Amino acid sequence: MINDIKEVLLDETAIQKKVKEIARQISADYNNKFPVIICILKGGVIFLTDLIKNISIPVELDFMALSSYGDTTKSSGVVKIKKDIDVDIAGRHVIIVEDIVDSGLTLKYINDYFTQHKPASIKICTLLDKPQAHKTKIHIDYLGFEVGNEFVVGYGLDYAQKYRNLPYIGILKEEIYS
Ligand code: IMP
Ligand code: MG
Repeated sequence: MINDIKEVLLDETAIQKKVKEIARQISADYNNKFPVIICILKGGVIFLTDLIKNISIPVELDFMALSSYGDTTKSSGVVKIKKDIDVDIAGRHVIIVEDIVDSGLTLKYINDYFTQHKPASIKICTLLDKPQAHKTKIHIDYLGFEVGNEFVVGYGLDYAQKYRNLPYIGILKEEIYS
């Protein structure tokens, strides 16, 4: 796997430090609110597990899966629910946990969908953001790191279902996907 990586962007130490900072912030912001954390599968799952281990207040967990890229590196812009949430979010404080915001179309869709269920609030927590790639206005409440437009893998993020188990985030060599 390591031979397919052009450059390590964020190593384990940098990621863990940032994840702890975000967890502390969430613990402070949601004291006595018992928020529902909804992780977007599969990419968000490694970030989620490290994050919640560092959150010091009670939280409820749920998961959602959407159709995404297939095996290419470009978003289709078409989002479909593959696994819906189980929890009733009406009146609840919702925190969406994502791996990366690229075009922003996935999160826009989820945000609009959740809004119909009348939660008390919705906030977005993403490990990575590609601000130059946004195709819709998206407000990120908790952000790990901004990255450029290169395709990145590791720490949950995949290319064709590979590389999710790398403990760091790296730029994938272009020859792998071109
Ligand atoms: P968006 O709808 O274009 O914002 O796409 C968001 C989803 O695309 C993320 O949740 C990722 O699953 C995937 N994605 C976008 N950029 C990358 C990347 O650089 N590496 C791996 N997955 C990515
Ligand atoms: Mg994803």
